[in-house]
Amino acid sequence: MKKEISISFIEISAPDELTAMQQTLLERANQALETAYAPYSHFQVGAAVLLENGEILTGSNMENASYPLCICAEHVAISRAHATYPDQAIKSMAITAKADKPFSENPVPPCGACRQIIIESEQRFQNDMEIILQGHSGKTWIFPSGKSLLPLSFDSKYLK
Ligand code: THU
Repeated sequence: MKKEISISFIEISAPDELTAMQQTLLERANQALETAYAPYSHFQVGAAVLLENGEILTGSNMENASYPLCICAEHVAISRAHATYPDQAIKSMAITAKADKPFSENPVPPCGACRQIIIESEQRFQNDMEIILQGHSGKTWIFPSGKSLLPLSFDSKYLK
């Protein structure tokens, strides 16, 4: 028997279709990517998370000469949120990227490891984290949750 899993998301082309908070988060992500330390890939990523208490915290990627030690922007933002407000769920995350050479017109999605980190936060706080991705062309994709980006994920329920 063949089975299929599909994911759905919203694509937005005009900024005025975004809420004021979504626009703010994207602006904060764009500011954050300027702080990236990416001397090896020259690929700068910014992430901004909105917490339940209304605070916004940001992160950018931080690379290392030992390449596997590179830390993604999303990982930095979530770790920063946890270290600052350990009891606060994350409601939304905006992610943007910039490079010194042309790259995809499409929004840049979080890597697999970051998706896994996102769903851990969702499960821990029992809440969905809206994921807002914007490409340099302005095209924006909105996913209702991290788990919608990671179907069939390995998570805590397999450990019970
Ligand atoms: N990167 C992120 O910050 N987030 C992702 O989800 C994908 C990749 C960073 C890691 C590395 O510094 C650079 O982008 C190129 O992979």
